[in-house]
Amino acid sequence: MNLTVPVEPPPSSNYRPPAPARRSEAAILARAVFLRQRDLLNLLPAEAYRLKMGKVPIGKRRIWIVNDPKLIRRILVEKAEDYPKSDLMVAALKPLVGDGIFISNGHTWKRQRRMIEPSFAHMRLTTAYPQMVGAVDTLISELAAAKGPVELDAAMSRVTADAIYRTIFSEPLASSDARGVFDAFQRYQDVVPQVNPKTIISSPANGSFDDVPAVVNACREIRGVLGRLIDRRLAEEAAGKVRDGDDLAGAVMAARDRETGTRFDRDELIDQIAVFFLAGHETSASVLAWSFFILSQTPEIAAEIRAEVKEICGDGPIEYAHIARMVYTRAVFKETMRLYPPVSFITRIATRSDEMRDHKVEPGDLVVVSPWLVHRHDKFWKDPEVFRPERFLPENEKKLKADTYLPFGLGPRVCPGGGFAQTEGVLILASLTRRFAFETLAPEKVNPVCRMTVRPDAAIRARVIDLAA
Ligand code: HEM
Repeated sequence: MNLTVPVEPPPSSNYRPPAPARRSEAAILARAVFLRQRDLLNLLPAEAYRLKMGKVPIGKRRIWIVNDPKLIRRILVEKAEDYPKSDLMVAALKPLVGDGIFISNGHTWKRQRRMIEPSFAHMRLTTAYPQMVGAVDTLISELAAAKGPVELDAAMSRVTADAIYRTIFSEPLASSDARGVFDAFQRYQDVVPQVNPKTIISSPANGSFDDVPAVVNACREIRGVLGRLIDRRLAEEAAGKVRDGDDLAGAVMAARDRETGTRFDRDELIDQIAVFFLAGHETSASVLAWSFFILSQTPEIAAEIRAEVKEICGDGPIEYAHIARMVYTRAVFKETMRLYPPVSFITRIATRSDEMRDHKVEPGDLVVVSPWLVHRHDKFWKDPEVFRPERFLPENEKKLKADTYLPFGLGPRVCPGGGFAQTEGVLILASLTRRFAFETLAPEKVNPVCRMTVRPDAAIRARVIDLAA
């Protein structure tokens, strides 16, 4: 089957989307002290975009930044067992996901991964796809009816939350009391201290972290709603009810450990479903918010997407089989993930002594692999700050330097939702771009900051132009 479509060579862009200025270490220190700069992306010195490995000069524990692709492979793939998830990541997410797969380690994680991976197998995408389409149709109706400017980032959070929720539970987010889950998630993300530089620098190795009451309350609310939904499903199962179709909740409930024959108990189910909901929407929402912002600044790229959609789908629906053929639209999504990787910092803790580039890494050291830095590294990318989707067209993608593009991580902990995210991303980019153009108000005020994901520091407000009107 021919997967590529002969389109005209796409326009080469020189557009530089917003990013913090690259400053010297002294200038950054001054900004931290005098301007109380607290955003991690704004605290990265220019040198960090050139080095292969370096030690953060301050902090109670030793913190290493590793950009060298060979060492990244060592940490995340070859010696993954020696570098488990860091205590910082665990502390931030534990109130929400308990011992869920995103933060568990060792045997617990191995069992969970064995049981969960089949639920994410490729074929399930065909079941998830109609759910994604349902979520996109809801957003299209909302945007078509919008009377004034909309907030692009909030719209993307809603559509991706709806898509993952429908995929998990086979019902729309708005149709049940689960709407509260979405609102509580937004509150959680506003208050979770995961990427607070002060916490990172002042925490001792494997330190304990104080509970933040607002985090605890939001998490209690989310887990309460998820618990009720799971109880409903367990009751149905006990009553012998057979559901039509299969969703992610059903797949995870049905999963059995092939080694022990055990299944997830109720609390474990809540943990895993909470991971899917969190990991499965804010990440995609972040990429899409940046994509639509960039498209609002580069009409020629938006036009290229429209041409591709027209060529492949005509005026008809965008079907699952079309998605793999939309190579340009996918390249736009991937290039956005290069410049705005939602998970910008992957943190691990060293559990054994190691030696890398003549540096001695000791147990307890924090090791940071940053897709943000690696994706913008001067030595790995030509014009790293320029948005150029052609880099990811199939013929060019093969030439990328190995392990310099890792939006989904690497190794045994690689994201199992990557296929889902890219299908959803291409569908949403194609569906909305074909129907609307967005005109961002005050684009010069849009800047990235690091929260749970890389978000704009204020809402991206945009006028919606309905091309079908
Ligand atoms: C653009 C979208 C997404 C991005 C950029 C992304 C990124 C990542 C990254 C970088 C990791 C590894 C973190 C680490 O090694 O510390 C990860 C893990 C994970 N992601 Fe995603 N993700 C995305 C979408 C999704 C979706 C849609 C789902 C579920 C439907 C999902 C579920 C998970 C899970 C369960 C893990 C934990 C895997 C494990 O530890 O074994 N992600 N993701």
